[in-house]
Amino acid sequence: MENTNTPLNFWSQVWQDGTIRFHQNVYNQQMVSKFRNADLKNKTVLIPLAGKTRDILFFLEKGAIVTAIEFVEQAAIEFFTENKIPFTKENNIYRAENLTFIISDFFKYTTKAKFDVMYDRASQVVFAPEDRPEYYQHMSTLIDSHTDLLVGAIYHQGPAGFGPPHKISPEEVTTAYKKMGIHLKSFAEQTNTTNEKLQALGVSTMTSYYLTNH
Ligand SMILES: C[S@@+](CC[C@H](N)C(=O)[O-])C[C@H]1O[C@@H](n2cnc3c(N)ncnc32)[C@H](O)[C@@H]1O
Repeated sequence: MENTNTPLNFWSQVWQDGTIRFHQNVYNQQMVSKFRNADLKNKTVLIPLAGKTRDILFFLEKGAIVTAIEFVEQAAIEFFTENKIPFTKENNIYRAENLTFIISDFFKYTTKAKFDVMYDRASQVVFAPEDRPEYYQHMSTLIDSHTDLLVGAIYHQGPAGFGPPHKISPEEVTTAYKKMGIHLKSFAEQTNTTNEKLQALGVSTMTSYYLTNH
C-alpha cells in the first residue's frame, strides 16, 4: 500500500491541528540584530519554509522585496488575514506590495537570479539528516557568495532520531555552505535547559545558534 504520510500531508495536518509551536508573535531577535542597520531597500530576500512568520513584515518594513516559500496554503492565508495585508492570488502565488508568497514545495521552486539575502529560521531543522544534502543542494541554486545569510539551527548532545526539529551540528551547516563557496561564522548562540519531556529522552540542554557570512 502507498505510504500517504508525505511531508506535505504531515505539515498540512500540523497546520490543521494548529500545533505550530514554532510560530512566534514577535520578531526574531537575532534577525533584528543582524539586519537592523542594514540597507535592505530593494534587496531581494528569500525566506524558505516560511510558515506564517511575522519576520516577513520586518523585511518589508526595511523596503526589501521578499519571496516566501511554503507548501501549506493555510499558512499563507493565515499570514495575510492575521496581518490584514491585501493580496492578489494567481494560481499558487499570493502577491502583496514587495511580497511574493509562493505555495510550493521548496525543492520545486527555481529562479535564475540569486537572492541578496537569505534568512533561514526553523527551516533546515525540518529535514532529517538523509534529506539535508538535497536541501543544501537546492539552496545552492538560489544563493551565492554575495548573498547575506542568517541561518539558524538547534543542537543538543542527546540521541538523534526525533524531530522535527532535528538537531544539526554547526560543523555540518558550515561544511554544507562551504561547498557553495559561502563561509559561515557564529553570530549568536544560546543554551537552555529543556523541558521534562526532552529530559526523559536524554536531552538535558538545547543550544540554539545562528550563523552568518557577512
Ligand atoms: C518549523 S516551521 C518554520 C516556519 C517559519 N520559518 C518560522 O520561523 O515560523 C517549517 C515550515 O516549513 C513548511 N515546510 C516543510 N517542508 C516544506 C517543503 N519541502 N517546502 C515548503 N515548505 C515546507 C511547513 O509547512 C512549516 O510551515
